[in-house]
Amino acid sequence: MCGIIGYIGSKQVYPIVIQGLKRLEYRGYDSAGMAIINGDTKIYKKQGKVADFEEHTKNFDVAGTVGMGHTRWATHGEPNDMNAHPHRSENGYFTVIHNGIIENYAVLKRKLEAKGYKFHSDTDTEVLVNLIEYYYINGNLSAEVAVRLALSKVIGAYGIVVSCSKEPDTLIAARKGSPLVIGVGNNEHFIASDAAPIVEHTKTVIYLNNDNIAIIKRNELTLKTLDNIKLSPQIQQLQLDIKAIEKDGYEHFMLKEIFEQPKSIRDTFRGRLSHDLTDIRLGGLLHVMDKLIRARRILILGCGTSWHAGLVGEYLFEEYARMPVEVEYASEFRYRNPIVYSDDVVIAISQSGETADTLSAIEVAKKDNATVLGICNVVGSSIPRETHAGVYTHAGPEIGVASTKAFTAQVTILAMLALKLSKQRNTISDEDYHKFISELNNIPEKIDEILQFNEEYKKIAAIYKDASNFLYLGRGYYFPVALEGALKLKEISYIHAEGYPAAEMKHGPIALIDNKMPVVVIATQDKSYEKIVSNIQEVKARNGIVIAVVSKGDKVISKIADHVLEIPHTYPALSSLLTVIPLQLLSYHIAVMRGCNVDQPRNLAKSVTVE
Ligand code: AGP
Repeated sequence: MCGIIGYIGSKQVYPIVIQGLKRLEYRGYDSAGMAIINGDTKIYKKQGKVADFEEHTKNFDVAGTVGMGHTRWATHGEPNDMNAHPHRSENGYFTVIHNGIIENYAVLKRKLEAKGYKFHSDTDTEVLVNLIEYYYINGNLSAEVAVRLALSKVIGAYGIVVSCSKEPDTLIAARKGSPLVIGVGNNEHFIASDAAPIVEHTKTVIYLNNDNIAIIKRNELTLKTLDNIKLSPQIQQLQLDIKAIEKDGYEHFMLKEIFEQPKSIRDTFRGRLSHDLTDIRLGGLLHVMDKLIRARRILILGCGTSWHAGLVGEYLFEEYARMPVEVEYASEFRYRNPIVYSDDVVIAISQSGETADTLSAIEVAKKDNATVLGICNVVGSSIPRETHAGVYTHAGPEIGVASTKAFTAQVTILAMLALKLSKQRNTISDEDYHKFISELNNIPEKIDEILQFNEEYKKIAAIYKDASNFLYLGRGYYFPVALEGALKLKEISYIHAEGYPAAEMKHGPIALIDNKMPVVVIATQDKSYEKIVSNIQEVKARNGIVIAVVSKGDKVISKIADHVLEIPHTYPALSSLLTVIPLQLLSYHIAVMRGCNVDQPRNLAKSVTVE
């Protein structure tokens, strides 16, 4: 999951690439590099963050108006200067940056070694650039034809930018599986993995589809398929504004995105809750609503936090729409040869819309003619283009690697859809339907209320920041929240944490409990309240430390638990939207106090575009 950027125009390329790499750094950040084409091609690359790279190159010759840059998330070859991108071909004709994985690189490498090619890095990308050069030299081909021929031999995923030393006024971009967007400016073009580095230069963009190749000059762009069929570019206008991808005074994007949730959930509602709060309209699903209402089963696919949102969806659809639901890890579903019926409806949930496992799982479901819907946040991403219909969460750009506002936006969409289906399937009364919609409409305000207690959560974080393990427990709708709370803590503070259905504790995890084990329990009022109180007593009986998320005014748990985090009352079905907030902030403060890079945690990247 790397970030790639390219520029060809009349402005100096260096500052454009450096700024672009900073905008893309959430995609991968273990090394960075750039190539500047100005007569010859100069390549600079360095292990570490983009800021280190900028420091490293500040006194170098970086003059030029054509170039490319790359920020890496290592797949083949450890993070070091040699494996960083760009990679140059053996005889210097081609330079490439690449996001993705060339799965058959070892076979191709052996063939090229047999032809005398030497390799200097451990990367699959160096194999690709040498393959392009091999065809260019031996086939006496143009750069474009050599690139197309080489890509026809490749198995795997790629988003690439290529330059040829013999055609210095041209950049070639191509994609398969990994995202790529081109920005159209005045006598200039930008190429990037997503719109973030482009929006400050132009809002006019072209999203490349799979197997597309673009031959790009300053004032000309030719779009083709890899089979040399000319395409007319689909020009789109970005709805994104630069402020949305700035920190806006917050110390970290994650904190900004946590505090944005009242607004992002309102944006998820916008145009979907009727003004009089009596109905829900999901325009993107109108033409598949019949299939949804009559679906034999709902299959929800996702990874990580999106999978957790799917679990909340399962409870919602089963309780309100009375529909059978299965929630699948996309990566497992992909290879399990699952049974999928043509009257199943599959919902693929993904913030980035680019997660490779989820994209592949969608292909599996489509093969069996199921109706496949998408719930995504990034407009123009691949999943919306691969599904039959869908809903955008409109949560705005989520830059912090740890997903926060996308989770609550995904759950909000699932709640609206479950409600709408229960109305259409007559499994809810008009009165309850209206009550539910108005309560949903109150959620942003209630989150505002919870965010006021940020300092309280910070104090608790200070007490437990040195813990080496945490346990998160919840029942029903709170079980996915327990999983989500544990994931947030793991991924940004590197503390080992596990989420469990509270009743499962007695079947093993209770053995972990002692006076050093903080146990976060989501214990707001609902039908299993008594049960969760007993679970808390079981933890206390083993000297465990209990941090309990409770409903405002709870009089029982506040007497047992070590810390209580009060939140406003709401329906259990909507409570994951409130109970997750204190858990997001707790993990955030613990990670900050441990000196972790909260927005770019080690070994992680924002969208996982390789399997
Ligand atoms: C969550 O904080 C992580 N960043 C990760 O688990 C993420 O949810 C997962 O990779 C799925 O990403 P997606 O929603 O973009 O498909």
